[in-house]
Amino acid sequence: MSDYLQNAALQRMAKLLNLPLPSPPILKRNRAALSDVELIHKRVAVVGRENYFLNELQSVFHKITEHATIYDDIIDGLVMSCVGMETIEDLEDLYTTIKNTVSKIAANGRVIIITRVDNTSTLSYTVQCAIDGFSRALSKEIGGKKGVTVNTLKITNENIMPLEVAHAAHFFLSEKSPFITGQVVLLNNAFNPVFNSCEQLLKDKVAIVTGGARGIGAAAARVLRREGAKVIIVDIPSAQQDAELLAQELEGELILEDITEDKAVANIQQHIINKYGGLDILVNNAGITSDKTIVKMSIDKWRAVLNVNLKATINLTDAFLEKGFNKGAKVVGLSSISGIAGNVGQTNYALSKSGMIAYMNALVTKNSDIYANAVAPGFIETKMTEQLPFFIKEGGRRLSTLKQGGYPEDVAELIGFLCSPMSDAINGQYIRVCGGSMIGA
Ligand SMILES: NC(=O)c1ccc[n+]([C@@H]2O[C@H](COP(=O)([O-])OP(=O)(O)OC[C@H]3O[C@@H](n4cnc5c(N)ncnc54)[C@H](O)[C@@H]3O)[C@@H](O)[C@H]2O)c1
Repeated sequence: MSDYLQNAALQRMAKLLNLPLPSPPILKRNRAALSDVELIHKRVAVVGRENYFLNELQSVFHKITEHATIYDDIIDGLVMSCVGMETIEDLEDLYTTIKNTVSKIAANGRVIIITRVDNTSTLSYTVQCAIDGFSRALSKEIGGKKGVTVNTLKITNENIMPLEVAHAAHFFLSEKSPFITGQVVLLNNAFNPVFNSCEQLLKDKVAIVTGGARGIGAAAARVLRREGAKVIIVDIPSAQQDAELLAQELEGELILEDITEDKAVANIQQHIINKYGGLDILVNNAGITSDKTIVKMSIDKWRAVLNVNLKATINLTDAFLEKGFNKGAKVVGLSSISGIAGNVGQTNYALSKSGMIAYMNALVTKNSDIYANAVAPGFIETKMTEQLPFFIKEGGRRLSTLKQGGYPEDVAELIGFLCSPMSDAINGQYIRVCGGSMIGA
């Protein structure tokens, strides 16, 4: 379950022998619990269109990061506000600032571009949305060598204030998001940030992770626990050994159920209500693949994938919507870039993963009391991908900006973020964690 090109000795040997091997950047990862001082030593320049929004943004960021300017020698982060740019000519500020700053961004640095769309005029709307393409291209241009990520936070709700933007930006500036790049994340939900500290934000929250025995689910369970949640792992009986060990490690609980079985949903729901009174977090992670081209795919393969990946998710979530979710509950669904781009031999899987994005989005349009978002991983080093043939694995890893696969923890950190109030501005969306995969980009 590891990438041989991440081996420093092999990289040195390849260089010595002049072998044309790709050299993926080494990504810095911070796996510690979320902290108020996480970014305090990061030199971050907050620049952009001069206006009230930028002033506010600067004062918020100067409290959580080390103040830097674009004239400093090296910076760790660049936050570029494009809010208020209304004409094609205005965009020249973006061009000039980025052009003059790119060489100053440190390895593993971060670029966050902030845009805001409103209906003032078709031109300003077009200008703000056009920046999506700029930031995606920039991510591909500057990310590969030094592991720099570029993401856009696009405000689509006029009531969202700089403080709410900063809460979301905290995650994308941190070393918890090294494998997320080239994303345009909509900030569509205005909220009132009532917490003074981001530490232990999930304390006493009750969380279920389906398929939590291993892989991405196990990593997500660990992150939720680290941030203070009480974690209940749901997995199939054959995963008992792994699941039991993890539940012990997390001082959590294990429910052994195949979520596609008739009584499973009712059993899980009843247990949570009886023991905890309600559920705060539901991570719909359990998933399987069963690949074949459509002509060769049996109806059993079709049904198996749809039943686990989509039907069981809908049944479980709908049951808690009916009874059991606490107010403001957070739901996360595991999608895949295959659900966005499609993949040969995966009509069933891609359908289920597109369905996951649609379901998360539909949930929030119908229910104002919950948050629901999908996470779409690219190539992640797990048991699921370990089984793939060598060349498919290599394609999955190298056909991306960062030229490597991600780790379950990279996905888990995004899940943790989406389960916390730090992400309250994001609702009904999907975010890829794919290292800038070219697939579907
Ligand atoms: N690994 C990747 O590269 C990747 C990429 C995109 C999306 N995903 C998605 O992320 C999720 C986790 O993937 P992973 O790689 O960790 O997979 P994995 O195979 O390592 O783990 C999946 C877990 O789900 C459990 N599970 C399967 N069927 C179940 C059922 N009917 N009831 C309860 N539990 C069940 C399994 O026992 C296992 O513990 C899946 O939904 C997958 O489709 C993974």
